[in-house]
Amino acid sequence: MNVLDTLQRPLRNLRLSVTDRCNLRCAYCMPEEEYRWLPKRSILSFEEIARLVAVFTSLGVDKVRITGGEPLLRRELASLVRLLAASPRLTDLALTTNGVLLDQQARELRDAGLRRVTVSLDTLQPATFRALARRDDLERVLAGIRAARDAGFGELKLDTVMLKGTNDGELCDLLEYAKSVGAELRYIEYMDVGGATRWRPEHVLSRAEVLERLTQRYGAIEPVREVSTAPAERFRLADGTVFGIIASTTAPFCRSCDRSRLTADGMWYRCLYATVGTNLRDMLRSDASDAEVAEFIASSWRARADRGAEERLAELSRGAFVGREELAQNPHLEMHKRGG
Ligand code: GTP
Ligand code: 5AD
Ligand code: SF4
Repeated sequence: MNVLDTLQRPLRNLRLSVTDRCNLRCAYCMPEEEYRWLPKRSILSFEEIARLVAVFTSLGVDKVRITGGEPLLRRELASLVRLLAASPRLTDLALTTNGVLLDQQARELRDAGLRRVTVSLDTLQPATFRALARRDDLERVLAGIRAARDAGFGELKLDTVMLKGTNDGELCDLLEYAKSVGAELRYIEYMDVGGATRWRPEHVLSRAEVLERLTQRYGAIEPVREVSTAPAERFRLADGTVFGIIASTTAPFCRSCDRSRLTADGMWYRCLYATVGTNLRDMLRSDASDAEVAEFIASSWRARADRGAEERLAELSRGAFVGREELAQNPHLEMHKRGG
């Protein structure tokens, strides 16, 4: 079965947050000193997650990405990967991590059936890393990236959120580094999502600016022609190096957005910017059958009209999407709860 929303977008891509905890404190995601964590009893078990994923795949989902917080903090994550990898309907099973614990887990995750890994890497400078992530873990992240390369994942991607005045002097260094480890780099525009309480328009380095700076250094850049619903647009340098840009802030891709998000405690959000989600955990923990859960999800998707990033673009004077007080009241609005 394939369900379509009000804009004819199919439900294909599920981002699965397995924990809201994180071992870094990146300025664009968790800039505050204190956070409220989800209570343990509310966290879905692996069996509950696998049951929900099976329902989602029956409705057309064929891509799952495991996220967090930092997903490698979830104990025994490889067991979940093994459960999900057994699903014949999933054509893609990937993970987004900050890389700190990847050195220890890459091989086990690969063996469990994880196909692709994306590692966040915003800087190659230890001092910038310390300032940006408020932990001194750059070396561990780089070791994690090497471990992922050596474990033989299908594709290795590196995600860089660009912040003007912080890491935007490293665009070329990061690209060269990615090349040296056989990874594809993606530059991500800083988004005003929930949690990004320090977001200001003047901190955003746009797609246009990235292309201009890279052209100055490398010469002509050509777009890679492909049909895709992925957020990244891909480009090629004259020497064949391919990289991506995710321009969610200046050029949103809501029109083709086929993704939804499940938090670690079973709240389902149909947009990164959605302020209202659906509690699937209570449904699971009541006597609902799989068919009932499926019908509930399908009818919610059919009603979906979200275009969060596009609506933000239309705002004239733009600041942080959600203020600190509101986040404190409703922590589910945080990016680290709904999976970066
Ligand atoms: P691929 O399947 O490899 O293309 O993965 P992906 O690019 O979907 O996943 P990844 O976790 O690497 O996402 C990269 C970044 O894109 C995220 O960290 C966000 O900054 C942004 N992004 C992901 N999903 C959404 C979304 O639904 N809406 C918007 N506006 N941005 C998103
Ligand atoms: N803007 C853009 N991307 C963000 N992420 C988290 N917060 C933001 C933000 N404000 C994404 C980044 C990071 C991943 C974990 O979540 O891609 O690498
Ligand atoms: Fe999809 Fe919402 Fe992101 Fe737009 S902002 S791409 S609709 S999740």
